[in-house]
Amino acid sequence: MDETAVTTPVATARASLATAGAHLLPAAATRSLLAADEAAWARFAAHWEELSPDRYAAEQGTCRLRRYGQFALTPATGQLSHLPHLPFVQPDRTNPLYDGVDRHFEPLTDAFTADPVLRAVLALLGRLAGALDPTVTTWNAKVHPFRVVAAADGAGNPTPEGKHQDGVTLVSSLLVHRSNATGGRSTVYAPDGRELLSVTLDEPAALLVSDDRSTLHGVSPIRPLDPARTAHRDVLVTTLIPQIRSARSRAAGPPAGR
Ligand SMILES: [Fe+2]
Repeated sequence: MDETAVTTPVATARASLATAGAHLLPAAATRSLLAADEAAWARFAAHWEELSPDRYAAEQGTCRLRRYGQFALTPATGQLSHLPHLPFVQPDRTNPLYDGVDRHFEPLTDAFTADPVLRAVLALLGRLAGALDPTVTTWNAKVHPFRVVAAADGAGNPTPEGKHQDGVTLVSSLLVHRSNATGGRSTVYAPDGRELLSVTLDEPAALLVSDDRSTLHGVSPIRPLDPARTAHRDVLVTTLIPQIRSARSRAAGPPAGR
């Protein structure tokens, strides 16, 4: 079925991604699409208690916890394969802090990899990414569960690199949980610096997606609401790039870029 022919949250998101370059799927819509009830969401969010320190962010003065893994995702068949663990390499010329630097992060836990909510998130992102490049049959999905922490008297910076691109096709941020945090405003920008979409993801399951080929993004620092306690912001950042294109599109040559 042509998903753009009917008005559903997925069709709206696909159309918005393709035309505006960014879209916010509200929490209620995402929860429904993920079929994640309270118990499933609580189990999913609990994986963020199992993250490991990011020593690269610590060098920039940011306390960030994370893990990392990658998958091959074929939306047409629903096939999802967990790929071997490798260092994370930022694509060239997209992030000046880490250009050409291999970063070694702890792998995803087996429980996280097997979580049906993660699998549903990836399936949803595959459907959305198809609006940006219909020639792709299999996507490479890089999965980054993050926790940014702000000390009681300080700030935590989710994007120490500032406004940037990830060098991918689709970039997404799924809010998992916030605790005692103010700030953390997510903004997607046009190449000329114009704000295309700016939102504070404050409801668990709110999902921000953008076309990374034509936009930049950044997140403002978080600070504690109650200055006597630490704050944190848990998100799942997932990026998609083409892994395999259809035989027909390969025969026709490379797709037009944007
Ligand atoms: Fe990014």
